[in-house]
Amino acid sequence: MKLLTSFCLILSTMWMVSCSSLSDTRVTSPDGRISLSFTLDEQAAPVYQVDVEEHPFLLPSRLGFCDAEGHPLSQGFQVRDVDFSSVDENWTQPWGENKELRNCYNEMAVTLDNEAGIRLLLRFRLFDDGLGFRYEYDVPGVDSLLLTDELTTFALAAADGPSWSIPAHYDTYELLYRSMPLAEVETANTPMTFQVAGQYASIHEAALTDFPEMTLQRVTPGCFKAELAPWPDGIKARFAGGHFVTPWRTVQLAEEAVGLINSSLLLNLNEPCVLPSADWIRPMKYVGIWWGMHLGIEGWAMGDRHGATTANALRHIDFAAANQIEAVMFEGWNQGWENWGGNQVFDYTQPYEDFDMEKIAAYAAEKGVQIIGHHETGGNIFNYERQLDKAFGWYAAHGIHSVKTGYAGGLPQGHNHHGQFNVRHYRKVVQKAAEYRLTIDAHEPIKDTGIRRTYPNMMTREGARGMEWNAWSEGNPPSHHVLLPFTRLLAGPMDYTPGIFDILYERAKKSPLRKQWNMRDSKDCRVNTTLAKQIALWVILYSPLQMASDLIENYEGHPAFQFFRDFDADCDWSKAVAGEPGEYVAIVRRAGEKYFFGAATNEEARSMALKLDFLQPGQTYRAVVYADAPDADWETNPTAYVIREQSVTSNDSLDIRMARGGGQAITFLPVTGTE
Ligand code: NOJ
Ligand code: CA
Repeated sequence: MKLLTSFCLILSTMWMVSCSSLSDTRVTSPDGRISLSFTLDEQAAPVYQVDVEEHPFLLPSRLGFCDAEGHPLSQGFQVRDVDFSSVDENWTQPWGENKELRNCYNEMAVTLDNEAGIRLLLRFRLFDDGLGFRYEYDVPGVDSLLLTDELTTFALAAADGPSWSIPAHYDTYELLYRSMPLAEVETANTPMTFQVAGQYASIHEAALTDFPEMTLQRVTPGCFKAELAPWPDGIKARFAGGHFVTPWRTVQLAEEAVGLINSSLLLNLNEPCVLPSADWIRPMKYVGIWWGMHLGIEGWAMGDRHGATTANALRHIDFAAANQIEAVMFEGWNQGWENWGGNQVFDYTQPYEDFDMEKIAAYAAEKGVQIIGHHETGGNIFNYERQLDKAFGWYAAHGIHSVKTGYAGGLPQGHNHHGQFNVRHYRKVVQKAAEYRLTIDAHEPIKDTGIRRTYPNMMTREGARGMEWNAWSEGNPPSHHVLLPFTRLLAGPMDYTPGIFDILYERAKKSPLRKQWNMRDSKDCRVNTTLAKQIALWVILYSPLQMASDLIENYEGHPAFQFFRDFDADCDWSKAVAGEPGEYVAIVRRAGEKYFFGAATNEEARSMALKLDFLQPGQTYRAVVYADAPDADWETNPTAYVIREQSVTSNDSLDIRMARGGGQAITFLPVTGTE
């Protein structure tokens, strides 16, 4: 086994393959801009190359796997068959940034086999906005397969551009994004976004349901090899029998950075919906008993500061009902929070004594407000899996259709969060939840790879540094929110939980209940944005479950909260209209007849012209603008904002001004004849 592993290492570093000709087998994108060539090299190992507009983008790059038994999974192949096909179809999803999508690609399916009888089908799909490829292996005569390495390589032809990513880590994505020269990236988690040769690009994966996650490891500057999150024994992936299919390895491509955001390549590479019906799944806005715990003025466990009490829950339900907010979420309602940080053993059907679930559920139903349940596991997935049926059944019996899950803690038995073992767990939870008509909002999740198309009850997830980091750390810098849309959010929705209006925690700091339990010495704990930017983030950071995360008392009587009242999390159409990673971003979304606009900037103040040509022609709209005040500044004057209204049509344009660390949000409400 040791010998074989080193053999694989040698193979994997031989990225610069020499091939007789790469024009043997070639497929192009429907618009002809991107082409992919396939060939076998001198060891009869599969190799691919990508050109964009006739210029090399990926140099000849290796494909294949190694396993513990030394099966020749990566060489000695002959091409048996090459099939070309094309698809151009429209499909709809029950919810999403865009409900109507087009799936248009050319496929080349290359069937290979070798003397060991191994059959490998390599499926390459080329879209106008990038490409994906996956492996389908059949190894005869084996009871199981233990993969030890993936050889897939992305050998970029040029590495002299910038890049935006977090480092590879098998347990967390809650890391700060780095803007750095691509050539200096040693490891990266995906999506890794970069700009070279006049193209913006992002490497990621699609349809990860039974495989470890892929990260990127530098081989030479600009040349990256796939690295898979391991099992505790070092094996990367294990399968019963000799058949396995990998997730898609993807490269999104766009001439403008916002083109990456507007791409639906990842969803197109996922399987269609498998749920018998999805009409019970709908996007919602929510508030919750949450931020108080992170600030340290409330606690999860029962005690003097307990947040999830019956009275507090009813107060939140009243607030939601009065403010056109569909749902409420309560954390710290169930037994098991006493030893937070230890080996958690939560009970998912035992509420604390001061949380009267029957009364709360009945009150929510009476008020027409949905409850989003909460299951923190602390990483103890065995305890969770044991209770899964009972826990989901219990929620369903209380009329609950949505659960926020959490995995804040190390996993048992040496497993990591992103390996195949836990990927299977996340998938099991999604499938089981669907049986009980529950949607999932996973925190500390596996990264998003678009499986929401197949399981639309997998609604949103965390998977990056969210709002919570501002409560107890140095916080997320102003550039964070203009990096996320070009990196993490390319993968799918994020439950960032924006909307803190008490930017400097003035209320929390005055609270006699606040203890140092959760907060760092607080003088440098704050939200590093302006208030207007917090509003804009409700639009920018797409989540079908969108939270207004501040203490509800901070919204009472606040004029700017009108934005959230008007906001609709169930959008139909979206477009990123301008932006550069780490600098700024501007996104517009339509929900029914309303439009919502959000723009945000990093530490620099900036202005941009926004053409309103996305509005319906001939229709007049009341534009309600939530802007940074002229003297606003995220550091010195973060809460200064102005609200102004004007009448606009699709022929107009608006001057969007943003303060340092600021932003702007606009609601466009159609004016009816009677107004
Ligand atoms: C981490 C989650 O991201 C956060 O939202 C939650 O409050 C805590 N875990 C406790 O479950
Ligand atoms: Ca978290």
